[in-house]
Amino acid sequence: MLTHLGIIMDGNGRWARSRGLPRIDGHKAAEESIHEAVEYCGEVGIKYLTLFAFSTENWKRPKAEVSFIMFLLSRFIKRNIDDLDRKDVRIRAAGRLDDLPVKPRSDLDAAIARTESNLGLNLILALSYGGRAEIVDAVKRLTADIKAGSKSVTDISEESISSSMYLPDVPDPDLIIRTSGEKRLSNFLLWESAYSELYFTDTLWPDFRRKHLQEAIADYESRRRRFGDIGGN
Ligand code: FPP
Repeated sequence: MLTHLGIIMDGNGRWARSRGLPRIDGHKAAEESIHEAVEYCGEVGIKYLTLFAFSTENWKRPKAEVSFIMFLLSRFIKRNIDDLDRKDVRIRAAGRLDDLPVKPRSDLDAAIARTESNLGLNLILALSYGGRAEIVDAVKRLTADIKAGSKSVTDISEESISSSMYLPDVPDPDLIIRTSGEKRLSNFLLWESAYSELYFTDTLWPDFRRKHLQEAIADYESRRRRFGDIGGN
């Protein structure tokens, strides 16, 4: 059963460079892969798809590249919102959203509000997202509750930390895919990935198509998840 799929969409820059193009063309080309992933997840009934679109560390990139990614986010929403809404997709976001520039933030907020009652695929955009930052923010929220007297130290538990994450109703990811040959999580869903299956592929994100996703899911389905137990038979 695959309920929640996370994808670290890596390799856009290398895809562009290998074609003698500027890095931003790689981000542009990434849109088609996003499109196919969203379509496929909707078709096979995956309930949550989290895309690592922009990390807390990505702010360190050249200003022009950051601005372009923010422009792409707005453009993606504008171009796809009607179609996504029609397909019952609910758009959500996770991260330090207050760090986003005004325009992409308001486009994002409008898309989130418009699709709030949709019951199909939850498309979660991780934006200005860092797993450590999320844990820090959760601890701050819990500490504030303790200070205010609504919680006590004994209330701190794995459950209460999970409930203080950005999207507490979203189940932990079953499978995380990273494209482009890097084999690390790079601060993606650190708390939530404790038992996630990991799948790494050399395919660069702009080349990642439906068949690659099918291969990754078939690989996942062949694994036995034991969650620390010894497993049956
Ligand atoms: C990783 O490739 C990709 C990113 C850091 C940005 C991803 C952004 C988008 C796909 C566009 C914006 C989002 C939406 C939802 C439209 P890289 O640049 O790190 O590639 P490299 O490792 O080859 O340099």
